[in-house]
Amino acid sequence: MALSLAINDLDAGYGAVKALRGVTIHVEAGETVALLGTNGNGKSTLMKCIAGLVRPGRGSISLTIDGKPHDLTKLSPEAIVDLGVAMVPEGRRLFPKLTVLENLMLGAFRRAARRDIDRNLALGFDTFPALKERQSQLAGTMSGGQQQMLAIARALMSSPRLLLIDEPSVGLSPLLVSQTIAKIGELNRRVGLTVLMAEQNFNQAIRIADRGYIIVHGEIVVAAASVDELKGNDIVKRLYLGGVV
Ligand SMILES: Nc1ncnc2c1ncn2[C@@H]1O[C@H](COP(=O)(O)OP(=O)(O)O)[C@@H](O)[C@H]1O
Ligand SMILES: [Mg+2]
Repeated sequence: MALSLAINDLDAGYGAVKALRGVTIHVEAGETVALLGTNGNGKSTLMKCIAGLVRPGRGSISLTIDGKPHDLTKLSPEAIVDLGVAMVPEGRRLFPKLTVLENLMLGAFRRAARRDIDRNLALGFDTFPALKERQSQLAGTMSGGQQQMLAIARALMSSPRLLLIDEPSVGLSPLLVSQTIAKIGELNRRVGLTVLMAEQNFNQAIRIADRGYIIVHGEIVVAAASVDELKGNDIVKRLYLGGVV
């Protein structure tokens, strides 16, 4: 499946607040790309622009599937899901009073996803066996780690080709962060899922990322072609690795 996401010179914001300025990034089929930045730098805004939840003021977002380009800035969030883009939102956004299974079924609300319910459910349960055992448990009564698993499994229910994951590590213990990140890496390898992951946790994100970008005050300040290049970057050393620059 040929897929590529190209974002060019994107500006976005909320009224007078400019959250993204001239953002240019790309993601290719099969890659795991990290979007790294500390709080308030525009990671979620960029994810929401791709998902059609925030409309950019300028620039382009193009998803090319098998040679056919789709301008995501012109499509509804539902149409973007139909193209195979699913988002795991920051803070999971589950329905706490619904069961695990009910939350999963809500991930398959689009017609195109309904015929693949059995396959996608099997993939989710296979990847996260704890969810299978807890199908009838209320989502809000599960641990943070289990809720993050559920949020990822729910996104898988729409048969995504491109998975946008917004800060999977938030609120999790170091062990659970590590396990969650490993699962995302496993999904990338096993089902060829293309992943764009926003993270503050540099060291965890680079365990599975092929390459990454650093976003500061809404601007991409580093675009590294590999994790080694990222680690060797002076801005990265200053921001994340405790180095003195
Ligand atoms: N709904 C909103 N209304 C107004 N400002 C917002 C809204 N969401 C985010 N912002 C602002 O946009 C900037 C980027 O936020 P965000 O994209 O959430 O960053 P991150 O995900 O990296 O923490 C911040 O200055 C934030 O305060
Ligand atoms: Mg965020």
